[in-house]
Amino acid sequence: MHESSRGNRDAVSVGGTYRFDGKFPSLPARKPAMEGKRLPLPEVDTGKVRQSSRPLDAVQTERLSVRNYAEAPISLTKLGEFLWRVCRTTEHIGDKRQDLMSRAYPAGGSINELEYYVAVRRCDGLESAIYHYDSHGHALVLLAGTEKAAEKIVDRSGMAMGLEKDQPRPDLIIVITSRVSRLAWKYEGMAYRASLMNAGVVFELMYLVATDMGLAPCANGTGDSRLLEEAVGLDAFEETPIAEFVLGVPAA
Ligand SMILES: Cc1cc2nc3c(=O)[nH]c(=O)nc-3n(C[C@H](O)[C@H](O)[C@H](O)COP(=O)(O)O)c2cc1C
Repeated sequence: MHESSRGNRDAVSVGGTYRFDGKFPSLPARKPAMEGKRLPLPEVDTGKVRQSSRPLDAVQTERLSVRNYAEAPISLTKLGEFLWRVCRTTEHIGDKRQDLMSRAYPAGGSINELEYYVAVRRCDGLESAIYHYDSHGHALVLLAGTEKAAEKIVDRSGMAMGLEKDQPRPDLIIVITSRVSRLAWKYEGMAYRASLMNAGVVFELMYLVATDMGLAPCANGTGDSRLLEEAVGLDAFEETPIAEFVLGVPAA
């Protein structure tokens, strides 16, 4: 995989060849709305965020992976601010060739194939379930019948972090999925690789924003992509989970 996703061999095309252009259309940048109860998130006061946000150097210096959680759950307002600062879509660019959009972080080709789901164990203001984040409308969509799967995703992350049975589990997991076929439509031989790199960029922004907000962040290197696929009905060839990020309130 490494050799074939680098431009090491002249005979193999790796890069933006648009090989499917004219054969079938690229999926739209905006993922069609998922079925479920729509919960608009509290509006974020950008002035307040700017006032309370600390210098980048301070946040970067303080940043740590935190695996000990407070008794109090994360609030919906905090979760909403976190999603808004990291994951919101800032512009739908469109394009003659491929439908593109911008977010608060860089992404290969502005294709922005990543989507965000929140597996909630507990959050003040939300019932336990899996939600899709509508990054265009800053809202959560409650995916019905996913309570047990949300618990399993949280437990799976607890395992990835080596938490003991008697240790408090995290409040929620942000599952990052990739609509990787959008990348493959343009990028030949490197779509999956580019998506993992994009997720890495998001991980760092998540760490910085969580630290700035006083939350407990931890990236996960392992996870079970089928848990979410099966719970919310994703076709793995269209969209599949590629990374998990854990969020909670840190123990004092
Ligand atoms: C891509 C990636 C995957 C990670 N996977 C895990 C994981 O599965 N479990 C875990 O407890 N920490 C995980 N971490 C956190 C690292 O263990 C942590 O960043 C590292 O030990 C340095 O500690 P610090 O983040 O506190 O500076 C991951 C971090 C990254 C960037």
